[in-house]
Amino acid sequence: MRLVELTLEIEAVYRELLDELGPDGQGSATSWMLEHSEEPFEVFVGRLQDWSRGKDLKDGWVAFSTFWLVDDDRIVGKSSLRHELNEHLCNIGGHIGYVICESFRRKGYGTEILRLTLEKAKELGLERVLVTCDEDNIASAKIIEKNGGIFENTYQDDELDVPKRRYWIAID
Ligand SMILES: CC(C)(COP(=O)(O)OP(=O)(O)OC[C@H]1O[C@@H](n2cnc3c(N)ncnc32)[C@H](O)[C@@H]1OP(=O)(O)O)[C@@H](O)C(=O)NCCC(=O)NCCS
Repeated sequence: MRLVELTLEIEAVYRELLDELGPDGQGSATSWMLEHSEEPFEVFVGRLQDWSRGKDLKDGWVAFSTFWLVDDDRIVGKSSLRHELNEHLCNIGGHIGYVICESFRRKGYGTEILRLTLEKAKELGLERVLVTCDEDNIASAKIIEKNGGIFENTYQDDELDVPKRRYWIAID
């Protein structure tokens, strides 16, 4: 199992993932994956690289890296590592977000993708990261706690249907 950035070499496995997600993303993709799904793969790869360098970001975004969890030549999940926090991320989104494709859930991949993304955060020089989850997302709360998350508080505002649980993870 490995956590990788998208490169031209893994176009085929990425295409398989898009096929599996289907046009509505089955709740497993972030909207920008689908928004850019029609463009040539090298353009998409370049776009992710630009975003990781803080180039051509959309409004309200900070520089972020996108990683793909590959097991047995399949992409089973995706994580995002934001390089810093803005006010919105500090309250709601945190440094790291992750998703495991529906057909691969409940096999430990969620726990593993956060562990491996924390290693990337260390490489980036972060000393602690904020990770959040919906108050009713039991699986994600377990994943965060198993990866050393220390609960700070719950955040709620008008934007949220469900309050967010906010955790800090120290990186050693
Ligand atoms: C949350 C998510 C990442 C979990 O991925 P996963 O690969 O199923 O997670 P794991 O297999 O590592 O499971 C972690 C723990 O949660 C438990 N769990 C997983 N799915 C669960 C569910 N639907 N209900 C209750 N517990 C669940 C597992 O049994 C495991 O518990 P354990 O530590 O006691 O063994 C996945 O469901 C997902 O992608 N959801 C949509 C996106 C999302 O919510 N992302 C997180 C944003 S904060």
